[in-house]
Amino acid sequence: MKNPIVVRSVLSVRRAALRVLLCFFCMYWAAQGIASEVDRIYVGSEVCGECHEHEYENFHTYAKKVHSYDNIMKMKNGLSVDEFKKCLECHTTGYGKPGGFISEEETPHLKYPGCEVCHGPGSLHAESEDPDDIVGSLSIKQCEHCHNAERVADFDYKPFIYGGAH
Ligand code: HEC
Ligand code: HEC
Ligand code: HEC
Ligand code: HEC
Repeated sequence: MKNPIVVRSVLSVRRAALRVLLCFFCMYWAAQGIASEVDRIYVGSEVCGECHEHEYENFHTYAKKVHSYDNIMKMKNGLSVDEFKKCLECHTTGYGKPGGFISEEETPHLKYPGCEVCHGPGSLHAESEDPDDIVGSLSIKQCEHCHNAERVADFDYKPFIYGGAH
């Protein structure tokens, strides 16, 4: 007859081994996740324009986003430093995120909400040219971070998915 204590300890050793294995997998996945986050940093609309001339021209001719930084600069004087930082979250590209906007002097190429506020950070795609490396099909979810419910109520309109793009 089997000793129940031995059986139990064999089981618990196996369970522990399984847990260690699972843990390794989790660490591996986490590392992969972090790596791909860091791989994808913001490059600015100029870089995108090198290959997507049509979208670039349209965007810079028609979208109000392109003048968005000038708009907050006009109001800067009346604001505290913290209030102004808040404006940067929506009126620039990637403020507070890896490779995102820092200041006009350090990151002039990101000083208005450009291609990457909708399509996501594009360094990987700009190098690989692979459509899978960039956010291609968008939903209104990608807009809500900036065109949030409060703003939609204030300005009384909700943007269409193509509106303000190109
Ligand atoms: C070196 C050239 C190059 C650069 C730089 C580049 N792209 Fe692309 N992009 C391509 C190619 C090639 C394709 C695939 C062919 C096509 O759809 O035109 C593509 C496709 C796309 C697509 C469609 C994806 C899909 O799912 O169909 C989007 C959106 C896009 N690029 C956005 C960007 C943005 C935003 C940037 C700047 C961050 C950028 N691209 C920079 C070459 C480039
Ligand atoms: C990073 C923040 C941000 C994201 C994300 C964003 N927008 Fe905007 N958008 C702005 C800002 C800021 C303005 C106002 C520009 C100004 O006038 O100063 C604006 C303006 C607009 C306008 C006004 C008209 C025009 O021609 O520019 C439309 C329409 C618009 N956005 C649509 C969209 C849509 C659709 C999406 C999602 C696919 C989106 N936006 C995502 C920040 C954002
Ligand atoms: C949550 C994102 C968000 C924040 C934070 C934000 N804005 Fe905006 N801002 C927008 C969007 C989006 C628009 C475009 C109109 C709309 O849909 O609300 C806009 C429009 C504007 C406009 C109107 C431009 C025009 O076309 O007439 C001005 C000016 C402006 N913002 C200044 C500021 C200032 C100054 C701050 C900081 C105190 C600020 N915004 C903070 C998202 C934001
Ligand atoms: C306001 C959000 C927004 C901005 C900013 C934006 N796009 Fe797009 N882009 C879109 C939408 C929406 C689509 C259509 C996606 C779909 O078919 O679901 C799109 C599609 C594309 C495509 C695929 C081909 C096409 O026209 O359907 C390319 C390439 C592209 N964008 C490049 C760019 C470049 C380059 C910039 C900057 C100069 C840019 N986009 C800025 C929202 C945006």
